Amino acid sequence: MTSNIIKFIYQDKIVEEKNPDTNETLLNYIRAKLKKTGTKEGCAEGGCGACTVVLGELKDNKINYFPVNSCIMFLPTLQGKQLILVEDLVSKNGSLHPVQQSMVNWHGSQCGFCTPGFVMSLFSMFKNFSSYNDDLIKNTISGNLCRCTGYKPIIKAGKSLNNKNRIDQFTKNKKNVIQLLKKINNESIAIYKKNKKYFAPRYVQELKKILKKNINAHLLSGGTDLSLIVTKERKDIDSIIYMNSIEELNYIKKNNTYIEVGATTPLIKFEDYVQKYYSDFNSILKRYGSVQIRSVATMAGNIATASPIGDTLPLLLSLDAKVVLKSIKKTKVVPLNNFFLNYRKTKLKKGQFIESVRIPLFSKNIFKAYKISKRFDDDISSICAAFNLEMINKKVKNIKIAYGGMASVPKRAVYCEKILLNSTITEKIMEKAKKALERDFKPISDTRASGKYRMMVAKNLLNKCFLEIAHKKLIRVTN
Ligand SMILES: Cc1cc2nc3c(=O)[nH]c(=O)nc-3n(C[C@H](O)[C@H](O)[C@H](O)COP(=O)(O)OP(=O)(O)OC[C@H]3O[C@@H](n4cnc5c(N)ncnc54)[C@H](O)[C@@H]3O)c2cc1C
Ligand code: FES
Ligand code: FES
Repeated sequence: MTSNIIKFIYQDKIVEEKNPDTNETLLNYIRAKLKKTGTKEGCAEGGCGACTVVLGELKDNKINYFPVNSCIMFLPTLQGKQLILVEDLVSKNGSLHPVQQSMVNWHGSQCGFCTPGFVMSLFSMFKNFSSYNDDLIKNTISGNLCRCTGYKPIIKAGKSLNNKNRIDQFTKNKKNVIQLLKKINNESIAIYKKNKKYFAPRYVQELKKILKKNINAHLLSGGTDLSLIVTKERKDIDSIIYMNSIEELNYIKKNNTYIEVGATTPLIKFEDYVQKYYSDFNSILKRYGSVQIRSVATMAGNIATASPIGDTLPLLLSLDAKVVLKSIKKTKVVPLNNFFLNYRKTKLKKGQFIESVRIPLFSKNIFKAYKISKRFDDDISSICAAFNLEMINKKVKNIKIAYGGMASVPKRAVYCEKILLNSTITEKIMEKAKKALERDFKPISDTRASGKYRMMVAKNLLNKCFLEIAHKKLIRVTN
């Protein structure tokens, strides 16, 4: 069934929006149409967390709660979900939710502008975990900025939740909401409004048919990059095909040789999965945007964006990943190494989409990755580097090194790799390898870092990688 009516659950009722504006942000809708002004606008680009709301989605007969930045989410993508706002946390008898009460008790608010966003991030943590330590709380609020209270009282408020009864009004009402979600969760969406079009197919077959007729449409996944055309550049996106409605592509599977990640899999899901295979991949993802961003953003979106500072890209390049491209008729598997053509230009053609990403499993290899950014959390990289190699009899084998932030595209360091391949690691070899990086890259200066700084850091990261390997006594660095 296809409909032009968006249906979602709000305050235990099904809300319907017929033919909505396809570029309207959820934040605008919440404040202007629902007249709920607790949710604030700070930056309008996903960076401050003031607009955080929590969505509930049906997964395996349970509700999966996740926080999103409503400022960079388009209203039609709310289809089939439950919307929870800061106002809804107060129970019917007027008492505050344990998360709100803990912020009061621990003086977690001063001017209050950021507070609804913090409350909603902590609320999603409260719903998803049963105990809350410092690391979890810091990760939870890494996408929320506060400029007056400071973070300590907020972290203390988060910790105090350990002593609270976890059964809140949402737990009590769960069965009812699951029934409502089931009723609205089965429709594809097609909206034609003035000169704008929006499609949310539910299956790949449907997507292909829509693509055939709408070859110039923008594919929208998490929207954490694409939506900024509307919120920052103040332009319209005329034609949108929403990918994240295709549950068929939300998967992670593995065989003996690679892990395959479906295009609509949120990064947060992959972040947990990859820990076991490449723990540094997990560490980089933990610093990728925020929980709000990673709850919706996808690896496919990161790849298609082709930003020179896209964080997953150097990691995937060093792991020799491949992208599975699908068009109306054909499927092509392309090595990521041949995928990036120029600044934000890829081999992706009109009518094609990324179906999945295949990441080879190098069970004997050492994999290391580093992200350098001005701020630890919720910041874009100045430089990101990834190293994938094997050490056999103290010699470097099968080495693949890739850097982000060093060229117009994320790129392998092929000259540097050549120096290190089959070598024993000595100070002399390391000097040669570092010098080779100057052949591989001519980094530019911009607001994030100077070219000189980038080159110096790139060399230092190479050093760091081998010192860490040596420190673990996998090899010995000799003169
Ligand atoms: C606050 C904030 C913090 C961020 N932090 C980081 C960070 O730390 N590291 C980092 O690398 N990036 C970061 N980003 C950038 C952004 O999150 C990433 O580029 C993200 O991976 C994009 O994925 P998405 O699913 O949201 O893509 P979207 O925004 O939906 O799409 C991005 C592009 O990919 C295309 N596309 C999407 N899916 C497909 C598909 N299946 N097939 C073909 N094309 C497709 C779209 O048409 C569009 O051109 C941040 C963004 C914000 C707003
Ligand atoms: S308003 Fe800043 S993240 Fe949305
Ligand atoms: S309380 Fe003022 S910005 Fe956080």
